[in-house]
Parts: sequence; C-alpha cells; structure tokens
Amino acid sequence: MAKVRLEGITRQFGGVAPRATVAAGITDITFEVPDGQFWVLIGPSGCGKSTILRTIAGLETATSGDLYIGDCLVNQIPARQRDVAMVFQNYALYPHMSVAENLAFGLQMRRVDAKTTQERIETVAEMLAIDHLLDRKPGQLSGGQQQRVALGRAIARQPQVFLLDEPLSNLDAQLRDETRAELKRLHQQVGITTIYVTHDQVEAMTLADQIVVLDQGRIQQIADPQTIYGSPANRLIATFLGSPPMNILAATYDGTAFQIGGQTLPCPESVQAKLQPLQGQHYDLGIRSEHLQISADVDHLKVEISVVEPLGREVLVRAVLPTSSSRSPEVAFQCRPDQCPRVGDRLSLTLDLKQLFIFDQQTGNTLHPS
Ligand SMILES: Nc1ncnc2c1ncn2[C@@H]1O[C@H](COP(=O)(O)OP(=O)(O)OP(=O)(O)O)[C@@H](O)[C@H]1O
Ligand SMILES: [Mg+2]
Repeated sequence: MAKVRLEGITRQFGGVAPRATVAAGITDITFEVPDGQFWVLIGPSGCGKSTILRTIAGLETATSGDLYIGDCLVNQIPARQRDVAMVFQNYALYPHMSVAENLAFGLQMRRVDAKTTQERIETVAEMLAIDHLLDRKPGQLSGGQQQRVALGRAIARQPQVFLLDEPLSNLDAQLRDETRAELKRLHQQVGITTIYVTHDQVEAMTLADQIVVLDQGRIQQIADPQTIYGSPANRLIATFLGSPPMNILAATYDGTAFQIGGQTLPCPESVQAKLQPLQGQHYDLGIRSEHLQISADVDHLKVEISVVEPLGREVLVRAVLPTSSSRSPEVAFQCRPDQCPRVGDRLSLTLDLKQLFIFDQQTGNTLHPS
C-alpha cells in the first residue's frame, strides 16, 4: 500500500493555439491521498476524471507536474512497473481467455504461485458472484458480469493502489448496491489506497474518505462527504451532490428580503450582515429539497404542483412558483405519501431559513454559509 501524490499535474489535449480555443484535459491538479484511504473523484462528463486516473496509472503522460506513488517519483516509470491496478470505464477483458484466466492473468505476470493464485480467484469470484462463470469467455457474459470480472481481476492482484473508473456503472440497481457495500467492506479489510471515479453521488457520499470535485479539468473542492454536502464551495458542487439536486432560485435582494418571481422571502438577520454592502444585487438562492415543507401556517413560497413522483417511503414533488414570465422558477421537495398533493394544487411551502444557501450569481461562489 502507498500514498499517492499529484503535484501540479497538467495534461493538455487538442490543437495548438490559435486553433485550439479551449484546451481540453486537466490543469494544475494537486492532491495527496494518504496511504490506505479511499478517495472519490466526481464531476460532470468531460471534466477530466479518467485523464487523472490514466495519468496515475502511467497510461497518459503529464504535460507538466510530478506524480509520486509512495515516496517514489514515478513520472518516468512505465505503467507496468507502477504496481497499480486499474479498472477501466470500458472494462477491457482479454476476449480469448476464460473468466478464470482473466482473473489469474495479473497474478501470473507477477509470478504469484499457483496455489495462491487459485485461492485468490476463488475468493474474488465468490465475493463478486461470478464463481459460476469461471469457464466462460467474456463474449458469453452480460455487461454487468464483464464489469465484475474486471473488478475481480484488479482485486485479485492486491496492488499498492486501486484506480477504479466508474466500476459499477453497468450493474443493475440491486447489484450495484451490493457491490458498493462489498467494495467498502473490502476496503475496510484490506485498506488498499483507492482512487475511485464516479458520476453517482450516492457512491461518492457512501464510499469516500475525501471527495475531489472537478469541473473543466480543474479542482473545485476537496473535502469529506458531509462537508461537500453541507458547505459546498460553489453552486456547481451544491447542485452536483444531493438527489434531487439543490433547488436554485434567482433572487433580487432589497436589504432585508429576497424577491423571487414576485414573491418575497425574508433574509435572516445573520445573513443580512454579509450581504449589506451588496444591496440591490442579484443572487442565486439554494434550497435543499429536505428543507422545504408543505405548511398551513408560515408561508414562504407559494407554488403550483406540476409533477408528483411516488417513491414508496416518500413522494418527490415538483412545483413551479407561478409568475407572469414564461420561465417560472421550479422547486422540488419531498413529502409523506399521506400528505401527497395533486397536480395543479396550489399550496404554501415553508423553508428552514437557517439552511438557506446564497451564491454569487456571476461566479457561482458560495457567499453563505461561509
Ligand atoms: N486522447 C485524447 N485526445 C484529445 N482529447 C482528449 C483525450 N482524452 C480525453 N480528452 C478530453 O479531455 C477531457 C477530459 O476527458 P476525460 O475522459 O478525462 O473526462 P471524464 O471526466 O472521465 O468524462 P466521463 O465522465 O464522460 O468519462 C474531455 O474534454 C475529453 O474530450
Ligand atoms: Mg471518464
């Protein structure tokens, strides 16, 4: 096991100026994953997650910056000598080999003895529920089964570092939950340093010691899951984690209250102090769905119900704030099934003002809570 340190790693793709208007790739990526920790990289498609993993694996060469595995500078060390195991987004298996041979391949390359190899194959095959498929070729497996074989191949190797690129994306919902829990258990047992890429915010929240949020090739925030959820550094991060995503409402501030599409929302006094110098400005307000409730007494927002989605334990309700403009602001909130409104109902919502987020409309940076 080993720590992994990236220092100012940049990898630029694409044409040379002036033809290239925006350089794709990753820019100035710096972080250190301590030995044995589980870190998750998250961000929109194309933000550079796979490029970071591929650079750590040695499959991509950084344009600049230094990469350390343990205390060793590995910039010049070829991929096969880095003792990292990567599970790719497209889980490339060897098509001519059986599942068992695929699982054994990395171990044979490292001259692990036959008995240990056999034991490890049996353990991972059982763990990932592929033990009945050991004689099949990859072409005879479903996408989800292939993905589990790719994961098993990496686990069987017991490398210094795991690099997992969306390793659960092809599994059905139930298997995905099970495998996620299995990965967490495995990590608690073996403690191999892991860097894990996902789009899935539940995976990010449940698995990570620390989450690295990326956008357009740059780091936006590094923090533990609860901090990322509770104190996101900007609007993008706020809306990326949480299901449904945080509600964002454009508002104008008059010194004591916000105006949202003709409705008035009081601004808590503690927050007024922060906004005072910027009176009359436009802000984006952020409200998490769990902080909105149907209310008969305090009415903060009047809404008209547009969509109702029963989820069993609760109902996800989408509503619009009726305005004269063509694009009415929308909010989503949850309620109990026995409270469920009907489409077209007009009702009042109360919100927990202490939980309000305020973002700079231009930069997206979080102004409150800060
Ligand atoms: N070999 C390449 N040549 C040119 N551009 C590339 C290359 N590989 C990646 N890119 C570009 O670099 C950016 C980052 O790509 P990357 O694959 O790292 O994104 P990602 O975050 O993994 O996205 P996704 O979530 O869709 O997998 C994208 O704009 C992509 O088009
Ligand atoms: Mg990717």
